[in-house]
Amino acid sequence: MTIDKEATIKCYDALAPFYTFFRAKTLRSDREIMPFVLKALMPADGERVLDAGTGPGVYAIKIAGQARNADIHAVDLSPAFLKIARANARKAGCGHIRFDQGDIENLPFEADRFDKLVCAGALEAVPNREKAAREFHRVLKPGGTAVIIEPDQGRNIRDRAFLFLLYGIGLIRPKMRGFGVTDIKRYYLNKHDFRALFAGSGFSRVELYDRRGSICAVCVK
Ligand SMILES: C[S@@+](CC[C@H](N)C(=O)[O-])C[C@H]1O[C@@H](n2cnc3c(N)ncnc32)[C@H](O)[C@@H]1O
Repeated sequence: MTIDKEATIKCYDALAPFYTFFRAKTLRSDREIMPFVLKALMPADGERVLDAGTGPGVYAIKIAGQARNADIHAVDLSPAFLKIARANARKAGCGHIRFDQGDIENLPFEADRFDKLVCAGALEAVPNREKAAREFHRVLKPGGTAVIIEPDQGRNIRDRAFLFLLYGIGLIRPKMRGFGVTDIKRYYLNKHDFRALFAGSGFSRVELYDRRGSICAVCVK
């Protein structure tokens, strides 16, 4: 059974203003994660960076603000999120970021395009995580680096609340994915899943880190 993308887009469009509001309130968790991402991904002049599943654009904007001469691209499935991200980028003086609609499972880019890639909190809701991981590998140049961030088994109360919200608005259909809504550990990824997913997608090096209840994978092609 496949998950209908149009329905997914509608759900994310509806969620966009609420998520953006709460994302701004929980920026505290970024105090540890953001420096980590910037250290792993800070692009040199002219390098190309992709923020996959950008949402309100937090990572793309932060990187673009510190690497003015890098070529920053961001994609999201949801037009409502993209509208918010573009407005946020303009407000932050980062009008040079390119935002486009795109699906992580089928990225609209040629192979070997990007030097760096970040994907934060988007993989958990993608129906085919293996396909998404292979796409990250495909669009990166040889030697390129991806940082993928996901809640660690949903241990954090905020992540559990978020899961129930996604369930409530119909974004997650547990039965379709073969688990129950209370089976939180099976919905969220754990370290073992993370390593297997990225190593199995062709990355030559996969390193895992804990940051404030999230798993951060640094994967080198
Ligand atoms: C939890 S939000 C994370 C947003 C952002 N990365 C952040 O750190 O705030 C998940 C985002 O992934 C996007 N998304 C979900 N499935 C996607 C897919 N298949 N392709 C692209 N974006 C997707 C959603 O529209 C949403 O903006």
